[in-house]
Amino acid sequence: MKKITSALVALGLGIALSASVQATSNDEAVAERIKAVGSVCIEGDDSCGGAAAAPVAAGGTRSSEEIYTSKCAGCHATGAAGAPKYGTPEWADRGAKGMESLLASAISGVGAMPPRGLCMDCSDEELQGAIQHMLDSSK
Ligand code: HEC
Repeated sequence: MKKITSALVALGLGIALSASVQATSNDEAVAERIKAVGSVCIEGDDSCGGAAAAPVAAGGTRSSEEIYTSKCAGCHATGAAGAPKYGTPEWADRGAKGMESLLASAISGVGAMPPRGLCMDCSDEELQGAIQHMLDSSK
């Protein structure tokens, strides 16, 4: 009798064990599926889809500072053609107009300021970021 009981227990354990092994491999499969979405891939590391990561760096939203430096500083760093100069109270004066108005004139151009500051591939959000960056410079 005792032998049968332990055999049954062993059998039960065996089933329980294989069930938990099954569960573990399911968890792993789920973890694997989730991981692919959130995993970090350093640009240039082509062992993990570096090529796929590159467009994010090239086409994603650029930082406000990047836009300012590469697209707006040409005029706004020096005050060329009467552009409100970066890091001066001129931007505090402009800021009084409100972002909506500043963004609208940056998009359409104003005075000697060409439409979009000549940044034709800048999104409205990127223009606004660059404007905010210049506004912040006056503080
Ligand atoms: C070719 C020179 C030039 C470039 C490049 C340029 N700006 Fe300007 N910007 C000006 C000038 C000049 C003014 C002043 C216009 C005026 O008030 O008559 C000005 C004014 C502005 C104003 C104030 C508008 C207002 O309503 O008072 C904003 C905002 C602005 N620029 C944003 C930008 C942004 C953002 C960029 C970069 C994407 C940029 N500018 C690039 C020349 C430039």
